Amino acid sequence: MRTVLVTGGTGYIGSHTVVELQEAGYKVVIVDNLSNSYAEVVDSIEAITGTRPVFEKVDLKDREATLEVFEAHPNIEAVIHFAALKAVGESVEIPLEYYKNNIDSLIHILEAMQQYDVKNIVFSSSCTVYGEPDQLPVTEQAPIKKANAPYGNTKQICEEIMQDYRVPNPQINVISLRYFNPIGAHPSALIGELPIGVPNNLVPFITQTAIGLREELKVFGDDYNTPDGSAIRDYINVVDLAKAHVVSIERLLNGNNKQGYEIFNLGTGKGNSVLEVIKAFEKVTGAPLKYKIVGRREGDVEQVYADTRYANDELGWKAEKDLEETLASAWKWEQHYRSKEKERE
Ligand code: NAD
Ligand code: UFG
Repeated sequence: MRTVLVTGGTGYIGSHTVVELQEAGYKVVIVDNLSNSYAEVVDSIEAITGTRPVFEKVDLKDREATLEVFEAHPNIEAVIHFAALKAVGESVEIPLEYYKNNIDSLIHILEAMQQYDVKNIVFSSSCTVYGEPDQLPVTEQAPIKKANAPYGNTKQICEEIMQDYRVPNPQINVISLRYFNPIGAHPSALIGELPIGVPNNLVPFITQTAIGLREELKVFGDDYNTPDGSAIRDYINVVDLAKAHVVSIERLLNGNNKQGYEIFNLGTGKGNSVLEVIKAFEKVTGAPLKYKIVGRREGDVEQVYADTRYANDELGWKAEKDLEETLASAWKWEQHYRSKEKERE
């Protein structure tokens, strides 16, 4: 059994990826400091897969503690590095914490990989690096635009760090995955997105409004240059996204990567507006969602969706689930989680 270290493995995308890795036969070691997730996620992963991943509660800002994880698990062959702070607005308020957390963590992982001779890493990047793209759909060759917040800048800097690091260390293989907008939850509804506090992202805000936790959804802008005036994104199912990580790990471990540093867009290739997402969600629940149109949110781009041909052809991976099925999974998760919460009270 091959061992993969998953940083941020109790988080939203990480937990779904751990499930897919275990189901594909990998042994998983999770590292997470639980700054944005809960230890109970490990139980849920076990409930879904029948296997309990190893869990190390470690802060990757702590270099020694990071090295100790590699010391304790000498069979690690690859790392998937999800761990990061990810709230765009918060990153404007506390930029140094974002730079320190996201950049130090990557550096400590690379140092540990060097010391313990681990050669493969998959990195969580974001389509935020493209900013407002000049051409749609956006390809991996599109220029990187100046980040509009420290969060996006940490993704750009991390990509550059790995590129620079490979110059004297060409034996290190990197796959950088640029996610578009991950949404939805595992079909079991045992794991899903669990934002702490008021959600910033569209779909958790929608499900929390539908369940009565929020008064109404604010739609940020209906005066964009799009067919219905609301902003367009490429919403990708989190399980589809998780599967792309398994494919990436296989590619690295089997030596099938064509270049030492590869970049793939992970999206569906289809753009949906905010109003379309609301309509699709209403179809899923069969009930109207309470929303109102307000002004644009600062820093938002008008539209971005992926050209997925490179990921489809080269990685041999394709997003399969459609928007309605994915929104239904998010709704099922919200309902399941809140009913469990009531039981606990
Ligand atoms: P998440 O917050 O649910 O998961 C990240 C996990 O990393 C959390 O469990 C958190 O506790 C952990 N973590 C953070 N800093 C850590 C540290 N110093 N040491 C140890 N653990 C630490 O976020 P997510 O949505 O699952 O995102 C995973 C990755 O994907 C992140 O790198 C994020 O920037 C990237 N990404 C996410 C999205 C999105 O919309 N969710 C889009 C593009 C890219
Ligand atoms: N939106 C609303 N109301 C809300 C929340 C969001 O109308 O309450 C709109 C936004 O204006 C945007 C769309 O819904 O048009 C999607 O917004 P999200 O906040 O869900 O997602 P973003 O596209 O803004 O950002 C996400 C991640 C970032 C990542 C980025 C990459 O949250 O981490 O994708 O494009 F960097």
